[in-house]
Order: sequence, then C-alpha cells, then structure tokens
Amino acid sequence: IRRAVITGTGHYLPERVVENSWFEDKLDTSDEWIRTRTGIERRHFAAEGETTSDLGIRAARAALDKAGLQPDDLDGIVLATSTPDFTFPAAATMVQAGLGMTRGFAFDVQAVCAGFVFAMANADAMIRSGQVDRVLVIGAETFSRIMDWTDRTTCVLFGDGAGAVILEAQEGKGDNSDRGILACDLHSDGKYRDLLYVDGGVSTTGTAGQLRMQGNLVFRHAVEKLAKTAHAALDKAGLTPGEVDWLVPHQANLRIISATAQKMGLPMEKVVLTVADHGNTSAASIPLALSVADGEGRFKPGDVLVTEAIGGGLSWGSAVLRW
Ligand code: ACO
Repeated sequence: IRRAVITGTGHYLPERVVENSWFEDKLDTSDEWIRTRTGIERRHFAAEGETTSDLGIRAARAALDKAGLQPDDLDGIVLATSTPDFTFPAAATMVQAGLGMTRGFAFDVQAVCAGFVFAMANADAMIRSGQVDRVLVIGAETFSRIMDWTDRTTCVLFGDGAGAVILEAQEGKGDNSDRGILACDLHSDGKYRDLLYVDGGVSTTGTAGQLRMQGNLVFRHAVEKLAKTAHAALDKAGLTPGEVDWLVPHQANLRIISATAQKMGLPMEKVVLTVADHGNTSAASIPLALSVADGEGRFKPGDVLVTEAIGGGLSWGSAVLRW
C-alpha cells in the first residue's frame, strides 16, 4: 500500500517583527491583554509588495533543500491560502513559476485556518491512488492585508508567513506502523459563516474586504470540535491518544490549544507551540510549526503526530501521521 511520507519541511517568515506593544498606542489594548488572552507575544508582517506567493516560494525552496529535491522532481503543488496574490491564477501556479518548475500541476485549496489539513488530505489521496509520487504542500498567508486595523478584537491576533512540506510516496505494509499519513478527518458546516468571514469578495463587493470574527463563539466551537476531530482521525488510524508523541495544532490561541490537549489527555510537553512568536498565520500555522519543530530535531522516526485546525466556514479537521 502506498503512503504519503513527509520527506522535507521548510518555512519562511517576513523580516518585520511586530511586538504586542506596537498596538498599544494605536488601539485600546495592551501587551498584557493579548498575552494572557491569546498567548501571542509577537508576529511577522509582510513588507509592502511582499505577497503570499513570495512567502510560499521561500518556504518551498527550504523544503525542497531539506528533501534533497529539485523543483522538477515534483509532480504537483497544493497550496492552502485565503489570501492569494490575485483572484486568479492560483498562488500555487505563481509558486510553481517562481521555483522554475516546468512540469506537473499547481492549485490552491481554500479552507481558511483548516486549509493546510485539507490540502494535505488532498495530496495524500492523490499519492495513495497512484496519480502522483511527489507533492509539495504549502500553507501561505498574508492576513495583514485583510485586517481592520481599528478592530482590536481581530487585528492583534494574526500574522503573515508560510510553511511547506514535501510528501513522497513510499510503500507501507498497510497497518499503523507505516510511516506517512495514516488518516484524515475533515468537516465543514456552512451555517456558521457569520462567525468568521471576510466582508468582501469578487462576486459580492468587488473588493478584498476585511476579516470579521465573533471570537468568543469561534472559541467555543474550537474547544468543542478540535479534540473531537483529532480523536476521530486517531480512531481511523487505529491509534489512541496515549500513543500520540506530538500534537501540532493550528496556532490561533494558547487557551484553545491547551484545552484541546487537555481533552486529549496530552501533557503540554507533547504540544508544538509557535503561537507566541508567529500569532495566528491561518493556513500557514501548522506547516510553520512542523518546520520549526523539525528544524529543532524534535520529531524522531516512528513518532505519531496529530495535527488539527478550525477556521472560517466553519471548516475543521485533523490528520494523523507517523514521522
Ligand atoms: N485588547 C483589549 N481588550 C480586548 C481586545 C484587545 N485586543 N479584544 C477584545 N477585548 C475585549 C472585548 O471588547 C471584551 O470587552 P467587554 O467585556 O467590555 O465587551 C473583552 O475583551 C472580552 O472579549 P471576548 O471576545 O469575550 O474575549 P475572549 O476571552 O473570548 O478572547 C479572542 C477573545 C482572543 C478573540 C478569543 O475569543 C479567540 O481566540 N477566539 C478564537 C479565534 C480563533 O481561533 N479564530 C479561528 C481561527 S482564525 C481563521 O480561521 C481565519
């Protein structure tokens, strides 16, 4: 049986780092409030003219280097974003061109903060079915471009960045001792649109719009749904929370992450945390966390990793893999 195994990770964060204190003279907020309510201490913001595909290209190059591959070794690129450079073409095709890749396909996946899990599930399905052998999966965002800078309840939460993984086909035995993605669990419920959305778009206002969120309601859904989807993915993989080595959650809020870990019975030592330094980078947060932790040598061959995320839609999901 074919499995999709991560053979390289990479990430890129824009140079500009903005500390919580930066917001203090612009809004009625404080470093103390942001830190205690969210766990966020700082975030990166893209420079003027620096786009989502620019960030994606840098993350992709790092992942290719790590895997020891050239762009034309890839069969395709799946890029998760809600903040593409243009309405079309897909940011993935701009990454493809930027890498100098002349073969294969490239397309975007849009499931907001859950986008990377959806993109990985997609690439995993294509690899398992035998359509492709090597896929670059990217999460890249410039949420700073859709912030309402007068809204203290949202603009302090988000950051820009990109993370990437290379998924390669490897033969496995077909049980959960295999390396690679073992199971995915995806959900959406469109009736919750108004909890988290962007108030513009091509076929409505003809503008890019700005992010609107009822944070406390999203928070409640997150705490309820994330542990559930992680448990469901583990069930499908025939594993229990006790067998999990690392939780690599979407990095939106430390309180959501802690509550989810607690519901899964996982100590915080098993949780990869980047929210303090990155803020919420939406679809980029999981591949960023994977790449940072991989760079620190934290994952050992055979480790069981669980990722989970929820975002606008609402859309949410989880993937279980063996490193
Ligand atoms: N500084 C100071 N005070 C603030 C700020 C701020 N930046 N933001 C909100 N407040 C105030 C509110 O106005 C409110 O004041 P009030 O009681 O006088 O009305 C008070 O703080 C509490 O507000 P809540 O919204 O109830 O605070 P909560 O503890 O829920 O924290 C937060 C808000 C951090 C937004 C939290 O709800 C959260 O993290 N939600 C989930 C966000 C998320 O994960 N989104 C999904 C992913 S994003 C995506 O998919 C694109």
